[in-house]
Amino acid sequence: SYHKYKEDVALLKQLGLNVYRSLGAKTFPENFLFGAAGASYQIEGGWDEDGKGLSMWDVYAHTPGNIKNGDTGDIACDSYHKYKEDVALLKQLGLNVYRFSISWPRILPNGTPTQINQAGINYYKNLIKELKAADIEPLVTLYHWDLPLHLLELGGWLNPRLADYFGDYARIVFENFGDDVKYWITLNEPGTTCTQGYEAGIHAPGLNLTGEAVYQCSYVSLLAHAKAYHIYDTEFRAKQGGKVTLNLACGWYYPQTESEEDAEAVRRSLDFNCGIYADPIFKGNWPQSMIDRIRERSKLEGYSFSRLPDFTEQEKSQINGTADYVSLNMYTSRVVWHISDYPIGPTPSLDLDLSVGSGVDPSWPASASSWLFSDPPGVRYLLNYLRDTYNPSEFVITENGWSDVGELDDQGRLAYWKGYLSNILDAIVDDGINVIGYTAWSLLDNFEWAEGYTQRFGMIQVDFNDPNRTRTLKSSAKWYSGVVSTGQIDP
Ligand code: NOJ
Repeated sequence: SYHKYKEDVALLKQLGLNVYRSLGAKTFPENFLFGAAGASYQIEGGWDEDGKGLSMWDVYAHTPGNIKNGDTGDIACDSYHKYKEDVALLKQLGLNVYRFSISWPRILPNGTPTQINQAGINYYKNLIKELKAADIEPLVTLYHWDLPLHLLELGGWLNPRLADYFGDYARIVFENFGDDVKYWITLNEPGTTCTQGYEAGIHAPGLNLTGEAVYQCSYVSLLAHAKAYHIYDTEFRAKQGGKVTLNLACGWYYPQTESEEDAEAVRRSLDFNCGIYADPIFKGNWPQSMIDRIRERSKLEGYSFSRLPDFTEQEKSQINGTADYVSLNMYTSRVVWHISDYPIGPTPSLDLDLSVGSGVDPSWPASASSWLFSDPPGVRYLLNYLRDTYNPSEFVITENGWSDVGELDDQGRLAYWKGYLSNILDAIVDDGINVIGYTAWSLLDNFEWAEGYTQRFGMIQVDFNDPNRTRTLKSSAKWYSGVVSTGQIDP
């Protein structure tokens, strides 16, 4: 039928049939971007080399007690020195896209344009050159959590002026690398920084603040993203022709019962965890459920204003429409139920405002990370939900991955990727969703934030006891390479 499809169609016609289902194996689209991802602080090392400034993660990780085993990203995978080897591995696996992030303090040591570190610029120029020579598309994140220390001291993600600093940094990045980069992400998972860094205190900057801080941080993140987006739009898009977006981290949610309350709990979970960023950039405001609930709870707590900052009309229009594509980080699912009596004050939090209980289905395999369970159909439900709710022109799945303790024969990771990729393929082929790329998390075992090196996400093992940081392919990498070369997932 590869050669005789015309005859097949003529026969269908002759029989008077009006639908044809091809039973051939499903195949990813011809130019699908298949790749892997990493992030500066998690892989580069070279924390104080060649003029790099300090980031809040350097300081946080150097503070005893913050990271398991006292681990740091000082050397990490040493990709600052070994980037050529990383690119060679991408090539060997047949991948055609690499997602990495630029370290803001490597380019601007104190975060401001007063001082530009040419050695930092050269590092990323060389990396991009190496990728281009290997026909690998760079997909670049401007900010993956390593905020210059000086800007933290000026108020970090609680200070609305951070948007201006981020804009200046973004301009320098676009100027230097924009001719070679077609896919940009402004901020990676702002929600993780805002909740883990400002409320739970288990990520840098390690603050245990309240619900006001989470929302202020989200508000400033959206302003910063929008600032960078418009700088690209007005100053670079015409000559560079790339796409810019804010990264979204979303999970999927199932109701515990068929009650209307639990259905509401699912909707609220989507709004508070995903819509909090997706609604502003696609619709111009916070999700209505957040506006209503937080205003009401703030009032009961005695505030004369909502803890969720109101956008001005000007901010709404500045933020609305600032996603040229969806960059989606998707890992896992939850079963949720409504909780009606979460207390009011004295320490408001996003979780209290959300008022849902959550758990997992006992049949879902568990990873080495407490939050990560495997539920492959969740990704397909989520893609459908996002398409129906926001109608973006295209999706790139920029993170999806599994943690274990680092074994080479990583069957758990292989099974996880097989399940999730099959569902993504179904979403493309059967649901008609325009997913154009996938960058698995992660290319290399790396510094997993507060967990240090105890949880491994790589398709490639890195020996952190070896000064050479020797890299070895795991079973999942070999399997993934097969998917990439055939465009198909073997049964
Ligand atoms: C999300 C983050 O972007 C990434 O840095 C992290 O390592 C993975 N999830 C796994 O937790």
